[in-house]
Amino acid sequence: MARRRQIYEGKAKVLFEGPEPGTLVQYFKDDTSAFSNKKKGTITGKGVLNNRISEYLMLRIGEMGIPTHFVRRLNMREQLVREVEIIPLEIVVRNVAAGSLAQRFGLTEGTPLPRCIVEHYFKSDTLDDPLVSEEHITAFGWATPQDLDEIMSLTLRINDFLSGLFLGIGLRLVDFRVEFGRLYTNDDMQIVLADEISPDNCRLWDIKTGERMDKDRFRRDLGNVEEAYQEVARRLGILPEGGPRDMKGPATMQ
Ligand code: TMP
Repeated sequence: MARRRQIYEGKAKVLFEGPEPGTLVQYFKDDTSAFSNKKKGTITGKGVLNNRISEYLMLRIGEMGIPTHFVRRLNMREQLVREVEIIPLEIVVRNVAAGSLAQRFGLTEGTPLPRCIVEHYFKSDTLDDPLVSEEHITAFGWATPQDLDEIMSLTLRINDFLSGLFLGIGLRLVDFRVEFGRLYTNDDMQIVLADEISPDNCRLWDIKTGERMDKDRFRRDLGNVEEAYQEVARRLGILPEGGPRDMKGPATMQ
C-alpha cells in the first residue's frame, strides 16, 4: 500500500492517486465502524466482498444510463474510479421504517412507508452527519437547487432499480445511502454516483425470514456478519471463485 500517494483514508476505504490524471484507486478495508465511530471492528473478507458487490451494482446502474465514478475493478480489494468533487451530502432513501427513522418517529421497524422517503445528511464526522434540509444545503452552498433536482431524480431511479434487483434474489431493500460527485470534463459538469454500494450502506432483509443481511449484524451484535455479506454476494452470483478461501490474497493486495 506504500506504492502510491494516499489521498484520503476513511473508515472503510482508502483512496490513492490513480495511474492516470483524473483517476483514483479505491481500496476496500475490512475495518468497520458504527455509531459515529464509537464502535469499531473488523469483518474478515468484507473489503473483498464489498469491492465485488459495489463493482457489480455500479456496473448494472451504469447500464441503465446513470453515470457513476466506477471505471473497473483492479484486483481483490481495489477498483479504479474517476476523481470527482464529492458533494458533501449523504442521501438516504427509505422504503421501510428502520434504524434512525424508526427511532426518530417512534415507528416499529419493518413498517412499510406510505412512499419512499429521501433524506439529506451533511457529511461531517465532527458534527455526526446532521440531518439537513434543502434550505441548509442551498444557503450554505453545498449544492444548488439544480444539483438537488438531479440528485433526487438519479436517487429515485437507483432506488427503483435496486429494489427490483434485490427482490429478484429474495432481499428487501429497506433503505440505503448514496453519495454523488461532480465530474468535470472540459466545460461540462455532470453529477455522478460515487463512493460504494454494498451491505455497509444498505439495509437488506431476507424476504422469507426477515433476517438482516447487512451491517446491522455488526451494529447490533447479531453475529454471522461475514456470512451475511458472503450470502449477498452469493445470491448476486459474484462470490469469488473458490469461495472464502479465495478471499485472502497476497499481503500486498489485502
Ligand atoms: P440510519 O437508519 O442509521 O439513518 O441509516 C439509514 C441507511 O443509511 C442505512 O442503510 C445505513 C446507511 N448509513 C450509511 O451508509 N452511513 C451512515 O453513516 C449512516 C448513519 C447510515
